[in-house]
Amino acid sequence: MTDGFIKAIGRADAIQTLFSEETFEERIDCSGKCILPGLVDAHTHPVWAGERVHEFAMKLAGATYMEIHQAGGGINFTVEHTRQASEEELFCSFQQRLQCMMRAGTTLVECKSGYGLNLETELKMLRVIERARRQGPISISATYCGAHSVPKGKTATEAADEIINNHLPKLKELGSRGEIHVDNIDVFCEKGVFDLNSTRRILQSGKDLGLQINFHGDELHPMKAAELGAELGAQAISHLEEVSDEGIAAMATARSSAVLLPTTAYMLRLKQPRARKMLDEGVIVALGSDFNPNAYCLSMPMVMHLACVNMRMSMPEALAAATINAAYALGKSHTHGSLEVGKQGDLIIINSSRWEHLIYQFGGHHELIEYVIAKGKVI
Ligand code: NIG
Ligand code: FE
Repeated sequence: MTDGFIKAIGRADAIQTLFSEETFEERIDCSGKCILPGLVDAHTHPVWAGERVHEFAMKLAGATYMEIHQAGGGINFTVEHTRQASEEELFCSFQQRLQCMMRAGTTLVECKSGYGLNLETELKMLRVIERARRQGPISISATYCGAHSVPKGKTATEAADEIINNHLPKLKELGSRGEIHVDNIDVFCEKGVFDLNSTRRILQSGKDLGLQINFHGDELHPMKAAELGAELGAQAISHLEEVSDEGIAAMATARSSAVLLPTTAYMLRLKQPRARKMLDEGVIVALGSDFNPNAYCLSMPMVMHLACVNMRMSMPEALAAATINAAYALGKSHTHGSLEVGKQGDLIIINSSRWEHLIYQFGGHHELIEYVIAKGKVI
């Protein structure tokens, strides 16, 4: 794999013959081990400053996510700290988080902005994501999430106007100059945050610029976000704890994938998303860690475990959701998410002959994952 792509797959003897003339920098003996595709984390908020561990204590004492949000905590708390942080400081903590993700087997991750809300800080976050994307070795799908919360003193309509008239044209300009590459557009469509109409306007404007629609919907209240996403041709809709039956059917028909986030439902003691119903109806189900100051989890093996136990997914379903389906949610299933000739050489080697140990051992991945390989290089 000198160029980072998978060259051949097959029995050891056939591969030996095929490459008998070649010299390799490194050979790994995988006898008795499992090789799996690198894990794909389809939803994270990894660039931020400001601790929110105190909010965990508040939630344990009974406060809800929205009570904390409306009292100026939650996203707004992180926004204040992220606005004050330097770009270098944000990059350093982001790098550490990416390292932890890679150690847990993630080789492709979706990374959102969204703790700036104003243009200046949203761009600062996107520059940090761009720098990490260029640096590698982890692959990144970048998401503009300027509609993560309504900034203080504005209505949702005013915030949507600002995004559509100022933020998106600037992203277009920076994209055409090759300075910042953004893949997806996101909105937090929720009661008391962005209503359905503002969500539609923002997502449509992003789509008009060529961004993939990938947004937060139907998390705390049924909003008909899934129906809207299907109508707009969304690549992915996240959360969906409160999705309607019609929303599920519409997503299946439109091939809009569901990015389920077991850590959030667990942390906030929400109703579990109906993964079984979605799978039975033919929805493409993906998984994400939702890493953010509310759900502090960087490990996709733990996410798969929670998906199996709490959302009743089988282990093969969870693995598909954390690899090829998560790659689909990011519009990258043609190049990532499975071990196929010509795809990017992203894989993990686990020290067990049964791959299921990756899910079964809750929090055991430190011992189990022996190698993480990204773009053909051991990291
Ligand atoms: O996906 N629901 C909105 N966004 C995040 C939480 C962000 C935060 O609380 O900082 C989520 O869970
Ligand atoms: Fe999120």
